[in-house]
Parts: sequence; structure tokens; C-alpha cells
Amino acid sequence: MIKVQIPATSANIGSGFDSLGLAVTMYNTIEMEESDRLDIQSLDGMPIPRDDTNLVYQSVKYIYDLCGKPLKGMTIRQTNHIPMARGLGSSSACIVGGIVGANYLLGSPLCQRELVNIAATMEGHPDNSTPALLGGLVTAVLEKGKVYYVKQAIAQDLRFVAIIPNFELKTSFARQALPRDVSHKDAVFNLSRAALMSVSLYSGNYHNLKIACDDRLHQPYRLSLIDGAHEVFDLAYQYGAYAMYISGAGSTLMAIVNSERTDFAQQMREGCDALGLNQWQIHELSVTNVGARVLED
Ligand code: HSE
Repeated sequence: MIKVQIPATSANIGSGFDSLGLAVTMYNTIEMEESDRLDIQSLDGMPIPRDDTNLVYQSVKYIYDLCGKPLKGMTIRQTNHIPMARGLGSSSACIVGGIVGANYLLGSPLCQRELVNIAATMEGHPDNSTPALLGGLVTAVLEKGKVYYVKQAIAQDLRFVAIIPNFELKTSFARQALPRDVSHKDAVFNLSRAALMSVSLYSGNYHNLKIACDDRLHQPYRLSLIDGAHEVFDLAYQYGAYAMYISGAGSTLMAIVNSERTDFAQQMREGCDALGLNQWQIHELSVTNVGARVLED
């Protein structure tokens, strides 16, 4: 069995809708080996499809087919620490884990750029799949099946505190809430902030992050789908967060704080409890500059 570790991702980072994303220190692992039948198990009790509709299996099969290799079956063991449909890249983790594992089992016929293109095409959102593969902060554009991207390693002086509601928000549903058209003014509003986000995170100009997180393309429409979000945003700013945004399509809300703010997560815990959000989880994470990888024994 090989074991693949894949980080969670936090896409959009406010203004960078469908184009910015970063990898964080929450991981799924997938053990896999070829077999003469399909045998899929969840090692942590999270319910997952155990037939050929399983996303990890479909991604493995895609790579075998692409490389012209027959595949009778697979043994797959999934450990899912990334909660599903919460805007932390759980689908990306399945796809990326499947293609990285399959490529390794086949002797690495595909290079990393090819894996980036395949993952984004399968997933549909390069801002999730690319940081899951590469780690760090990624700026990505998917154009005709090819991802044009830059990965930047981020300093370790920030914490990303994930405030995870006890309800799912499916990306397809969260995308339906978005308007078909936006004004020229709103387009300029976002592109200037997305550019500012990318360079500010990379260069350590964290005083820009609050303004850079502001957005008119998706968050105003999605916030109302997350009961309690406005109050949690207010709390986080009251406790000194640099910035707050909806992670991916939600439902997770992400606070960016200075790494010296070791009390922030606990303050948010108490604040959320006081708001009646005691079922919400809070995880203090960092950016990981290492993407999906096969773990050596
Ligand atoms: N950029 C995508 C969205 C991420 O916000 O819909 C979802 O995976």
C-alpha cells in the first residue's frame, strides 16, 4: 500500500474568486494499491461511496485509462479529516489524492504540470485543485484545459483560523446564488483587491489584508446562506483578525491572524458559544507550502 497525504485548501481568499487559493495544515490521507476487485473503506467512519462512484477511485481510473493501463480493481482506505461541503477542498483532496497516487503506482509517467491540468479540469476550480497539489499560495487561471499559475511559498507568521459551521453548503448551490452579470465598477473593485491580496500575502504586507478580502462577486450573495456569518465576521474583527472571508464556496469562515495571537481561536470559541454556535468547530491552521505527496514509510 502507498499512502498519499493531501492538504485542505481555502479558495478565493475573499476577492480572488475562482483564481486564488492556498493550502492549509489539515489533511486527508488515502492508502491504495492495485487489486483484482474494488474494496473501498473509510477508516474514520465518515460515510463515503464504496462503489465505482467514489471520487478517489474515479480519479485513479482516469489516470490508468489516460496512460493506457488496465485496472481491475483497487484497495482504497480513506481517512477524511477535511469536512465535506464546507469550502475546504474535500472534493479536490479526493481528486488530487487519486491522481497523485495513481501516477506514483504507474511509475510517474505524468509530470506535475500535467497533473495540475488534469486536476483542475476534473475539479473545475483551479483555485482549489492547484494548491492541493502544490501547496502554498496559488494564483491560477484555467484556460482551455490548461492551468496558467504561479505558486508562492508563504511565511509562517500567519494563522488561518477555520470556523466551520455544523452544516454543509454545496458548491453548486452556492454558485447558483451568484448573479450572471456584474457591473464594470464591481469587476474593477475585485480585480484590484485580488491583485493586492496576492502580493500582500506574499510580501508580508498584512495591513492590506482586510481591504484585499473585500469582494463584490460572491461573498455578499453567499453570506446570507450562512446563518450566523455576519456575527462571526464582527467577532473576528473585534478580536483583532487581519481579515475574514468565506473559505471557498462556504460554509467555513476563515480568519487570518498574526501567529502571535495564540488566544484568538479560544476567544472565537467562547464568542461563538455565546452566539449559540457551540456546534461549530474551530481549527487553528497554518499555510503549508507542501502539497499532496506520497508519504515514505
Ligand atoms: N472558487 C470556487 C467557488 C471554489 O467559490 O465557487 C469552490 O470550490
